[in-house]
Amino acid sequence: MRKLAAGNWKMNGTRASLSEVEAINAALDDTDPAVVICPPASLLIPAYDIGGKIGIGAQDCHMASSGAHTGDISASQIADTGATYVIVGHSERRTDHGETNDMIKAKAQAAHEAGLMAIICIGETLTEREAGETLAVLGKQMSGSVPDGATSQNTVIAYEPVWAIGTGLVPTLDQIDEAHRFMRAELLATLDEDAQHISLLYGGSVKGSNADDIFSVPDVDGALVGGASLSAHDFVPIIKALSRA
Ligand code: PGA
Repeated sequence: MRKLAAGNWKMNGTRASLSEVEAINAALDDTDPAVVICPPASLLIPAYDIGGKIGIGAQDCHMASSGAHTGDISASQIADTGATYVIVGHSERRTDHGETNDMIKAKAQAAHEAGLMAIICIGETLTEREAGETLAVLGKQMSGSVPDGATSQNTVIAYEPVWAIGTGLVPTLDQIDEAHRFMRAELLATLDEDAQHISLLYGGSVKGSNADDIFSVPDVDGALVGGASLSAHDFVPIIKALSRA
């Protein structure tokens, strides 16, 4: 499994923030895992132009390759910026924009067709966890939003419990372990054996102080990081924890 530390800047950052991308780049060495930053669309090109070791990704794409979709960006347009990743199905997109599993699957397919690596997000709400529905929800989201053509070359899956995002709450290591084992088993049951190589990220309140513990869970191959990816000061310790894991 390829280790990956991915940063999701959400709707944060202006050109002044590119100095953080430069600082993260400067802190990387050959022993570090793959690192990708997903800035807002306005910063894709200047972030890519910084060069260095960091990969660049977008936070969403439309399922169509072009057309009358005001305000949207297509996977091929993202690829044209030099970016190589795109997040699809983040819970904030599912909630704020009513995105369904079908839409997310179509977006992941569009990403694949454009040659992008899709980071497909899944995760349960607190209500679903408390009702004992976590694995059922994850199973439904995986079968609904991971396309048949998913391989370790074009897909990463991020487990992000909705209640852990931006809250400082983190599941127990046993809860993360249970979710990631389940995801791996689902991939093996539904895709071919290459699926065992698809990287599985954990996301939700990852910080330098909890990263070593989270990365000690066997099927955790990296992290999708929100708030702590906005500065080199907070993100680099997470990257270094992943290289130690
Ligand atoms: P957080 O966000 O690290 O700020 O909790 C994670 C995410 O939404 O990907």
